[in-house]
Amino acid sequence: MDVFASYGLEWLNLLVRWLHIITGIAWIGASFYFVWLDNTIKPPAPGSDLANKGVAGELWAVHGGGFYNPQKYLVAPAQLPKELHWFKWEAYSTWLSGFALLFIVYYLNAQAMMVDRSVADLSSLQAVGIGLGSLVVGWLVYDLLCKSPLGRHDLAFGLVIFAFLVASSYVLTHLLSGRAAYLHIGAMIGTIMVANVAHVIIPGQRRMVNAMMAGEKPDPVYGIRAKQRSVHNNYFTLPVLFLMISNHYAMTYRHAHAWAVLAVIMAAGVLIRHFFNLRHKGRIEWKYPAAGVALLALLAVLIAPRAPLAQAPGVDTAAQFTQVKTIVDQRCVSCHAAKPTQPGFAAAPAGVMLDTPERVAQHAAQIYQQTVQLKAMPLANLTQMTDAERAQVGAWFEAGAKTDK
Ligand code: HEC
Repeated sequence: MDVFASYGLEWLNLLVRWLHIITGIAWIGASFYFVWLDNTIKPPAPGSDLANKGVAGELWAVHGGGFYNPQKYLVAPAQLPKELHWFKWEAYSTWLSGFALLFIVYYLNAQAMMVDRSVADLSSLQAVGIGLGSLVVGWLVYDLLCKSPLGRHDLAFGLVIFAFLVASSYVLTHLLSGRAAYLHIGAMIGTIMVANVAHVIIPGQRRMVNAMMAGEKPDPVYGIRAKQRSVHNNYFTLPVLFLMISNHYAMTYRHAHAWAVLAVIMAAGVLIRHFFNLRHKGRIEWKYPAAGVALLALLAVLIAPRAPLAQAPGVDTAAQFTQVKTIVDQRCVSCHAAKPTQPGFAAAPAGVMLDTPERVAQHAAQIYQQTVQLKAMPLANLTQMTDAERAQVGAWFEAGAKTDK
């Protein structure tokens, strides 16, 4: 790829990512609001005008200088209003922009972004196939489980789908780079959430509206089915949001048992979300977020980097800065320079430049973290840094990261 193409791609990346975050906020924001609404409304007094109109619950709220009085009808109002707002493009545009971003960041640069030879020696096509396949399989399995008898038992269903996601993480972290595996689990959950909207929730609502327009009484089963899926979506939100930002945290996805790390983080997210769902209903149950936070704290301790070895075996303990500089020149500078020579890179990734002795010294701690503790760099080990070189960098840093000659 020439430099202009990769520069153009960088802009496309920026714009699509920006869009993805905006639409994602609009979607999850609206969804959090409706969950809150649903859990907070109170039924009107029996026999009151509202109750007679078919209102199942209402509340009063003040926001932005106005008073709001939303009312929920179950199954539907006696008469359909002329104008009805639907909520679907928030979800669809989040998925479309996310899918575009998958191509821009991962599929167009699969060797660097998806393949990790220490995990599996895949061709780009294989890696992309596994990525796309995971999205399809995820939805098929989830949808089948929902329609099976299991779908009627919320807790059992939740546990089974959780086990399925953990198993998928296990498989993907054993095929793709940790970073791509995590992102694909996120994309898989996101795809399930959007497919719930597109395949179950919106069509069900449309059938209800059509029935009413035909002067029939809408079948409540569509409402019940839509509700089941939207409850699932609600519990998926915190795990999926972590997965979407996980690429910043190599300590999670680079861990030897990255799938187990992810299981703990997802469980914590679900527990914390559960707390808020109960709280909206007026029940404060601290044990749920306490368990979530305890899980995260335990995880943090368990995956903490071990204390540096006083002396790595077989390493020149007087590791000199010049040696480290040579290693960085060979293994890092093709990407981490103002003008990278590595195909596909238009600017220094993450803004980190390592092309002068001063810059290497300035980034010593980060270099140590990324190459020795996390082994996250060089990206996909494209420049084939050896373990001996990592040990040299480690010994240099642990001896104080001296820069003299
Ligand atoms: C093939 C290109 C490539 C090579 C070679 C490479 N990197 Fe990186 N590096 C990246 C990319 C891409 C990112 C941004 C990662 C991200 O967005 O999470 C990055 C990010 C970093 C960061 C910032 C991490 C953070 O989250 O703050 C550091 C530090 C770093 N690299 C150090 C190194 C070192 C040291 C080497 C050599 C041993 C190296 N890199 C080799 C592509 C590369």
